[in-house]
Amino acid sequence: MGDKVIEIEGLKKSFGDNHVLKNINLELNRGKNIAVIGKSGIGKSVLTKCIVRLIQPDEGKVVVLGKEVPLLDIDELDQLRKRVGYLFQGGALYDSMTVRENLEFPIRRTQLSKQNAELKGLVEDALESVGLIDAIDKMPSELSGGMRKRVGLARTLILKPEIILYDEPTTGLDPVTSLGISELIMSVQEKLNNSSIIITHDIKCARITSNEIKLLKDGTFYASGTFEELKKSKEKEISAYFN
Ligand SMILES: Nc1ncnc2c1ncn2[C@@H]1O[C@H](COP(=O)(O)OP(=O)(O)OP(=O)(O)O)[C@@H](O)[C@H]1O
Ligand SMILES: [Mg+2]
Repeated sequence: MGDKVIEIEGLKKSFGDNHVLKNINLELNRGKNIAVIGKSGIGKSVLTKCIVRLIQPDEGKVVVLGKEVPLLDIDELDQLRKRVGYLFQGGALYDSMTVRENLEFPIRRTQLSKQNAELKGLVEDALESVGLIDAIDKMPSELSGGMRKRVGLARTLILKPEIILYDEPTTGLDPVTSLGISELIMSVQEKLNNSSIIITHDIKCARITSNEIKLLKDGTFYASGTFEELKKSKEKEISAYFN
């Protein structure tokens, strides 16, 4: 039951002979978070890219906020993408822009009519929420990896998306910063009451941020459950994540 914001059925995606996604089924309800774990190169990023059609699936149903994503025209897709935030693996900041300009960018692109004072307020609020207001005039090259991730997160949040796709939000960070990011994901969710898919290798992050964990293996979800349920598993493939 509940209000489904993402529904995926029978999703398939291959690159030549590389059959990455063979049969993916997933339902995400409003206000819930799903963590996706799985080995490097298994298709986690490909899956999230199919959700916003950065990659076109070969087959299957992908319904996001009630829209059949593979069938949308460009304008409809653009409208949908404003409602779905995507935090890229690695942050993907624009290196030639300051932190402030990086944050202004999505608003300028989508809401041209915004007044400068309002824009300034939005940027400052978003940076406050990730604890980086002091970095507002810095260039991305002056920031640490953890700071870049937080700026990326602030830029994702600025449009107040109904869904957020996090691609490895804590990878490469120390445990303290990782914990900070996981807590930030939760505080954002409490504020916006949105829904998220969090791709992660960090089981602590999955535990803190998600209601359900799904293990991707051989092109399909091999196991799904709460942290406590999966933790009990005797299967090496699953238990390896919990040690
Ligand atoms: N645009 C593309 N063209 C061809 N092959 C691709 C493309 N994108 C991804 N792949 C292939 O799809 C497979 C899954 O890649 P993906 O990036 O989804 O892995 P991942 O699970 O996110 O790994 P990691 O944990 O390292 O980020 C890999 O074999 C990759 O080479
Ligand atoms: Mg990836």
